[in-house]
Amino acid sequence: MLATPYVSYDYNKVYEPSEDSFLLLDALEADLSWLNNRFNDAVPLTIEIGSGSGIVSTFLMQNGIPNANGLYLATDLNPWALDATLDTCSKNGCKNSHFDVLQTDLTSSIRENEVDLLVFNPPYVPAETVPELPHSNHAVRDDEWLFLALDGGDDGMVVTQRLLNGLDRILSCNGVAYILFCARNKPETVASKMKFSGWKSELVIHRKAGWEVLSVYKFYRN
Ligand SMILES: C[S@@+](CC[C@H](N)C(=O)[O-])C[C@H]1O[C@@H](n2cnc3c(N)ncnc32)[C@H](O)[C@@H]1O
Repeated sequence: MLATPYVSYDYNKVYEPSEDSFLLLDALEADLSWLNNRFNDAVPLTIEIGSGSGIVSTFLMQNGIPNANGLYLATDLNPWALDATLDTCSKNGCKNSHFDVLQTDLTSSIRENEVDLLVFNPPYVPAETVPELPHSNHAVRDDEWLFLALDGGDDGMVVTQRLLNGLDRILSCNGVAYILFCARNKPETVASKMKFSGWKSELVIHRKAGWEVLSVYKFYRN
């Protein structure tokens, strides 16, 4: 079993690692050989969207997922998350010189069809709206940025659906995306629709977490 990175940050500013974060780590560990085989000879570009505390990106780098030659980028809208991600990386002795962070919406600043491994634990909680961005990086209240971590609008799918709609322009031809869902996101329906659009959609792992059922699906081209 692979070790979970040590994380310590101000959780009034960034999302505290929770069952969803840990399920994502378990999904990536469960698929370790599959990922190693898929990116055997390559220099893969891995992007974690919404890195929060940095626990997932640090886990990927520490364990050389998908392989030891990779380049890594962690994105978030929350500027504190980028600071936390660098902090977690350094606290865990991660000296990866091929790693950077970027404040951006999803992968909007990334060249098209370059991402080999994409990982996203999105804001998936059904809510009336997706919160608006604070007006500046110097939000008056620290927790203004934290709201972005949870509320996912209609069915909790607004942010995730935006990503899925653009997946064909984001992933490299061999690329694969691991995305976390809760049951209220109707992940089976999402997976069927993706299949209908020509994607392979596979359930990697699922787990009951309190009254919620969380799952991780992977999507890649047929
Ligand atoms: C549920 S948290 C996950 C944090 C961390 N990856 C984990 O698993 O613990 C979702 C993260 O996505 C970020 N986020 C929300 N909308 C985003 C967007 N459109 N683009 C990039 N990041 C976003 C939030 O700021 C938050 O850090």
